[in-house]
Amino acid sequence: MDYQYITLEIDAAIGVITLNRPQQLNALNWGLVGELAHALETCDADDAIRVMIITGSGEKAFAAGADIKEMAGQTPVSMLSGGFESWERIRKVHKPVIAAVNGYALGGGCELAMHCDIIVASENAQFGQPEINLGIMPGAGGTQRLARTLGKFVTMEMTLTGRNYSAQELHQLGLVNKVVAIGQALEEAKNMARKIAKKSPVAARFIKESVLAAFETPQEVGLAYEKRLFGLLFSTEDQKEGMQAFIEKRDADFKGR
Ligand code: CAA
Repeated sequence: MDYQYITLEIDAAIGVITLNRPQQLNALNWGLVGELAHALETCDADDAIRVMIITGSGEKAFAAGADIKEMAGQTPVSMLSGGFESWERIRKVHKPVIAAVNGYALGGGCELAMHCDIIVASENAQFGQPEINLGIMPGAGGTQRLARTLGKFVTMEMTLTGRNYSAQELHQLGLVNKVVAIGQALEEAKNMARKIAKKSPVAARFIKESVLAAFETPQEVGLAYEKRLFGLLFSTEDQKEGMQAFIEKRDADFKGR
């Protein structure tokens, strides 16, 4: 598929997706979100790719939110049928996804970062849920993912005041994994991705599923789910290779089988 709003580059085992509307600060129109879902699914289905990175083009923004100009004239019905299916597809990606956040990650941009599994941010990154300034509210999971990550009170302040939070502030609060110098977010995300790409892809997939289950199920259900996935890994070649490599004091060569 030829993409209009994003680019997809394969760098060894890493799929790097760049949101590519720099003049609009990578605002997330429906076309872009659809292309992003397609690119992630393409990487998910490609055995050669083990980790994906999402970043923004230009130094100014990861994504400044859903496209306000596209949303302005929408109706409830068109909004509910418009972009949401793509967000669901993004949510269902199996492989680890890292957000490399440069500049603004506002509204849907912050929510997109939270769809990812690890967030690396440059020190000029600004996160926020400013929807209340537009007379709306977060609609791509913001209230839910923030509340589960940061708790009720920080989430209430963030979504009710609409103020921006620095990368450093959110690092201290536990939403940003690592803060790096301006211009280094993508490189640092690639460093992390290379480390993950050397691990067992089957184990990585199950770990992601199991961690996400902690956000989506009661703990008893999550614990049972984890136990089953743990047991299932003992049917893989990767488990045999990983343990044999430890015993033989060598690096494991995981094949994802
Ligand atoms: N949608 C559409 N266009 C946007 C946009 C958005 N979310 N954010 C920025 N742009 C456009 C601007 O309209 C402008 O385009 P023109 O040159 O054609 O006028 C261009 O990007 C550059 O933006 P600014 O001139 O505003 O740049 P700035 O440096 O002065 O300000 C900013 C940067 C503070 C991020 C400001 O652009 C801004 O406040 N953007 C909107 C942020 C926002 O409210 N996001 C939430 C959207 S709602 C949402 O996301 C709902 C959801 O939950 C899914």
